Amino acid sequence: MSFPQHRPRRLRATPALRRLTAEVRVHPADLVLPMFVREGLTEPQPISAMPGVMHHSIDSLKAAVHEAADAGVGGVMLFGVPTTQDAVGSGAVRTDGILNVALAELNAEFGDDVVLMSDLCLDEFTDHGHCGVLDERGGVDNDATLEIYGRMGVAQAQAGARVVSPSGMMDGQVGHIRAALDDAGFADTAILAYSAKYASAFYGPFREAVQSSLQGDRRTYQMDAANRREAILETQLDIDEGADMVMVKPAMSYLDILRDVAEMSTVPVAAYQISGEYSMIEAAAANGWINREAAIDESVLGIKRAGADLILTYWATEVARRLKG
Ligand code: PBG
Repeated sequence: MSFPQHRPRRLRATPALRRLTAEVRVHPADLVLPMFVREGLTEPQPISAMPGVMHHSIDSLKAAVHEAADAGVGGVMLFGVPTTQDAVGSGAVRTDGILNVALAELNAEFGDDVVLMSDLCLDEFTDHGHCGVLDERGGVDNDATLEIYGRMGVAQAQAGARVVSPSGMMDGQVGHIRAALDDAGFADTAILAYSAKYASAFYGPFREAVQSSLQGDRRTYQMDAANRREAILETQLDIDEGADMVMVKPAMSYLDILRDVAEMSTVPVAAYQISGEYSMIEAAAANGWINREAAIDESVLGIKRAGADLILTYWATEVARRLKG
């Protein structure tokens, strides 16, 4: 007897059929390249814990942004690594601070052709390495930090950031930065909020990248890995405070969170494939344990499938080139 039967293998038979019936696709414009610019460099320097990623000089930064833009990458996210740090992270706010200088240089070079995003956090600029300023007892002072974030946001907007990205997980940071931007005449500067950012062991290589002096951990402000419902609360608060886009970070160990956030969010959702996710694949590939390109593409596709509209990845330029063929 014969009867109609589902045979899912029919649609897997050829590359062209698989291509036709793929449920999700990554597009170069989905990808955002995080970049590090270090004060005082004349030549780019490799970051040993992130093989293939550089500390850029201003010149090498510009060249790498050109490459990213040519590959069709959607935007770049800039981090600054200053030569000196202090208790309140004053280099973050000063116009001659490395991040603000680099933003101004990129803005002059690329204007509106590249979406310029900047990390808005104090950890690279403080000598204690925390994302905010400390109170007398050594805890991170939420509201005193907000005041500095507001000024940092304005400095970045002034320098030419189109999107500022608060990543410090202080309560009320999005609302405070929004108000500061509006008051200073930057109503058109967007906020990409790191909304559900978890305290993660996978930030390890990044800490080397920004030469973090952090002692201890960030568990009093970043989220606990056990919590799923709380990610919805954090995201809803950020949307209510005016976030134009929200983010889940890290990606790989938090794909369920990303799916939850994608389903509840009324604004675009980003996910950050962080340093440890990058370095694990690079290390396994360098040992010959994994097919590097296939693993990279699968990891990025998985993030997209989980619900990300935008994906921050250190492989943005490489993946975008591969997608263009
Ligand atoms: C904090 C910040 C972190 C990252 C970007 N901004 C994390 C942290 O040190 O807690 C992580 C990026 C990565 O690991 O790739 N300003």
